[in-house]
Amino acid sequence: MQSTAFTLDIPFLRPMHPTDLPAILAVQRQCYVPEMNEDESTWRGRLAAAADFTWVAEIGGEVGAYLATYPSHLDKVTPLGGEFVVTGAADCLYVHDLAVAPAASGSGLGARLVEHALQAARRQDLAQAALVCVQDAFAFWQRCGFAERRPLAPAATAALATYPPPARYMWRSID
Ligand SMILES: CC(C)(COP(=O)(O)OP(=O)(O)OC[C@H]1O[C@@H](n2cnc3c(N)ncnc32)[C@H](O)[C@@H]1OP(=O)(O)O)[C@@H](O)C(=O)NCCC(=O)NCCS
Repeated sequence: MQSTAFTLDIPFLRPMHPTDLPAILAVQRQCYVPEMNEDESTWRGRLAAAADFTWVAEIGGEVGAYLATYPSHLDKVTPLGGEFVVTGAADCLYVHDLAVAPAASGSGLGARLVEHALQAARRQDLAQAALVCVQDAFAFWQRCGFAERRPLAPAATAALATYPPPARYMWRSID
């Protein structure tokens, strides 16, 4: 008999914790080209800055996916390896990194994590969300309601250039 909402087959979504960092780095290595891997100290700083906006999904008791976001401003692009600088009067949820391990990919988990982040943004009255789209994820983000946003100011263009091409800034409003 099933006594809990979560089983080994259903990903368990919970806040990211510093003890998750080795598993997060392992998922990152599986999901990104080497030059896009961000180091552990960068991740520690992000967790300290935005603990309420970073999550992991466990599959079979292991971290199989993660999502790192923070309240920011529309048209502010976080460079690769950049800090999460959380300031007052945020108007936009910045989705810095969504990664689903290849073994769990294609089962709807990524889209569910995005919806979870959008719900968190709604609770904070953030009216939009934005991200840098890399690798081959453009169609995925379009399906999640995001569209490319151009042109960008010089500072945002410079931050975007820290990512391997193709890198595109995308955004959507949050109802
Ligand atoms: C992109 C990523 C997060 C998607 O996660 P996922 O759990 O596989 O996605 P889902 O199963 O929720 O897919 C939702 C839909 O998007 C599609 N999709 C998923 N990844 C896609 C991709 N890379 N390109 C095009 N479409 C994609 C799926 O086919 C699915 O379509 P459907 O609803 O018609 O079946 C995941 O593939 C990943 O971690 N990639 C490596 C890291 C990365 O590039 N992250 C994005 C950084 S911007």
